[in-house]
Amino acid sequence: MCVCVCTHMASFFRRSVSSQLVRRCGGSEEVFIPLLSAVPVSKRQLTPDFRLTVSSLVQNGILSPEEDLQSQTERLAKQLEVNSVIEDVTAGRGVLTFRVNKLLLAQKVLSELREDPQAFGVKSEILRSLPRGRTLVEFSSPNIAKKFHAGHLRSTIIGHFIANLKQALGNDVIRVNYLGDWGMQFGLLGAGFQRLGSEEKLKENALQHLFEVYVQANREAEHDESLRLDAAEFFRRLEQHEEQALLLWKQFREITVQEYRRIYQRLGVHFDHYSGESFHQSKTQEVLNDLRTHGLLKMTEKGTGVVDLSEQGDTSSYSTVVRSDGTSLYITRDVAAALERKQTFGFDEMIYVTDKSQSVHFQQLFQILRVMGRHWAQRCVHVPFGLVKGMSTRRGDVVFLEDVIDEARNRMLHNMNQSKTSKVVCDPELIADQIGISALIIQDFKGPLTADYVFDWERVLQAQGDTGVFLQYTHARLRSLLRMHGDETHTHFDASHLQDRRSISILQHLLRYDEVLLQSALELQPRYLVNFLLTLCHLVSSAHRDLPVKGSATDVAQARLHLFAGTCSVLANGMKILGVTPVEKM
Ligand code: ARG
Repeated sequence: MCVCVCTHMASFFRRSVSSQLVRRCGGSEEVFIPLLSAVPVSKRQLTPDFRLTVSSLVQNGILSPEEDLQSQTERLAKQLEVNSVIEDVTAGRGVLTFRVNKLLLAQKVLSELREDPQAFGVKSEILRSLPRGRTLVEFSSPNIAKKFHAGHLRSTIIGHFIANLKQALGNDVIRVNYLGDWGMQFGLLGAGFQRLGSEEKLKENALQHLFEVYVQANREAEHDESLRLDAAEFFRRLEQHEEQALLLWKQFREITVQEYRRIYQRLGVHFDHYSGESFHQSKTQEVLNDLRTHGLLKMTEKGTGVVDLSEQGDTSSYSTVVRSDGTSLYITRDVAAALERKQTFGFDEMIYVTDKSQSVHFQQLFQILRVMGRHWAQRCVHVPFGLVKGMSTRRGDVVFLEDVIDEARNRMLHNMNQSKTSKVVCDPELIADQIGISALIIQDFKGPLTADYVFDWERVLQAQGDTGVFLQYTHARLRSLLRMHGDETHTHFDASHLQDRRSISILQHLLRYDEVLLQSALELQPRYLVNFLLTLCHLVSSAHRDLPVKGSATDVAQARLHLFAGTCSVLANGMKILGVTPVEKM
């Protein structure tokens, strides 16, 4: 007989059912059956019971696709024993429904949450199957003197989410920003700055000024031969590491990083390491030597050096790694960067977050690393995302990251001023900043990352409906309820007051949290967590109405407060993983 010793509540229920299934039907105990999320739930009403779909039973070899499924399901339902956890099993159309012991459910979930709210879900045994170790996440990676476009914003928030999730699940995480800080364009920027730049403006607004100089220099170079020559000369000096040129370039870089640091802080994002293409410039020669000794570098008639990837099943098969003039390319620098990172950080897995137009680039990068005999390339992953269309501000097209955050904040402030309730917060600018950013993040995370979407400020900032504003509103309302009634959640509570449909729906939903984290981690997609939290907030909305604390008998109020406190912790934990800072008031 299978005895379950489970620390986590969800596992407790899952085990109780799956061990029975295993015993009865000879399935494998290793099989993980997503018991709690098997059936899609509507936003406002969850089934109070657990359901397993017949198709998942077939998939796991418990039912045979050869025989009539309905009669097999009915037979199975009769065979399964009821116990202290599962009170009843019935066969429906296409599902097997388990009625759980609701008293146990309320007691277990809420005491677990009270004991250690931070550990809830993330310590679940179903997450133990995930590989642990050191994860390097490279994200954001804007280019100096160029636009910070919607793609960079997406990379920033998605990478932040992935890093947070990995960290919450117990990985050791290193966050790297790989700046576009090298290449021919720095010749033009350097030469352009010497003609058009101003130290003053650089100090005042570095990003804006560098961008303007670069745009202007590009324009002038079209008809100005001497500027083109100067640019080529400046880049040559840079490549030769000539001091004066390098000094100017360093200044551009430092000032840009400083500015970004400040803006990332508004987003709650930080990096352990600011690297960039320039860092790996000098190492590209070693990469070429390495390729040569492995017999992988082929010289073409045009004088370029390529790696033949045709045996790797790559249709584009050739990847150019060195130009005819001996200079390196984007991919060569990426190979060098990967090798160096492995050496410096000893990561177990590395994750790159960029838009999907770079997918081929990363597949080639990983293939090159593999043919070079670097087996760890198996655990290098590219997380691609789609295009955002129409992200503009009142001032026009988005050029800088700060424009987007400012626009979100200003619009949010405007909305807050319109509403009666939010006049009481003490730092409206900060609150508006945080809620505006939440709104951007949730809008972006709702669908599959690879999908393109059209950006719409109105929709993003709605207070009702599935938005970041709604998440924040629900959190703030829960916090206010808990503040109002003091911290009474240390006291005992009676779970028999939480047997109504609303309470049970919430409790059961909370049980799915670990599965949602698992799914998010396996696919590196935030939408599972976002949708889980949005559903939780819809359930809380109904509960506020139907389960009042004020005016209820003391022990009923007590029990409800426990329920709301537990819910609030899970909501806050989930929001933080998404990169959203929960606000106390709004
Ligand atoms: N700076 C690049 C861009 O803006 C993104 C860098 C992505 N990371 C990398 N290791 N290649 O397109």
